Amino acid sequence: MDTFEAIKTRRSVRVFKDKAIPNDILEKLVDAGRFAATARNVQPWKFVIVTDKVTLRKLAELAENGRFISGSAACIAVFCEETKYYLEDGCAATQNILVAACAEKIGSCWVAGEKKPYAQAVSKLLGAPNKLKLISMIALGYPEEADALKVADKISLKELIHWEKF
Ligand SMILES: Cc1cc2nc3c(=O)[nH]c(=O)nc-3n(C[C@H](O)[C@H](O)[C@H](O)COP(=O)(O)O)c2cc1C
Repeated sequence: MDTFEAIKTRRSVRVFKDKAIPNDILEKLVDAGRFAATARNVQPWKFVIVTDKVTLRKLAELAENGRFISGSAACIAVFCEETKYYLEDGCAATQNILVAACAEKIGSCWVAGEKKPYAQAVSKLLGAPNKLKLISMIALGYPEEADALKVADKISLKELIHWEKF
């Protein structure tokens, strides 16, 4: 799949098949994350790959907006050290992982991180050092009914582009 196709066909997937994702593919996704743009090349990120069903369930219990994590094959938690641009960097890494997952025919959904009340509890559950902030949790799995995935309403290109100035 070429890059543009992966970007354009990516959808948030919240229902997954009961099928494991091979570890080498999970590492490949993190590899995509670490190649994201990062201000001043600081690379403040760390990634925790969770595949243990009990831990996945606990993450889902903590995140009321991420209950579907319990049915995922894996969840990658993205953490960053609190550098000047940690949030931008962590989000860039997260998006890279989503697009790479799509290219591997793996469904994914971004679950919010540090702005949520559960961020500290998630950090504790995953044993994160205090200096790290939870940026996102990425639920991953082979999609149920991949062909039936709904495209979220997108604002048209025409409405968004302004050539040279507004
Ligand atoms: C910063 C951020 C936080 C998000 N948090 C959640 C979340 O907590 N739970 C969830 O189900 N989806 C979450 N999403 C996914 C969005 O709901 C989704 O991207 C949006 O509805 C557009 O749909 P699409 O990804 O299929 O294009 C989040 C996305 C972003 C960028």
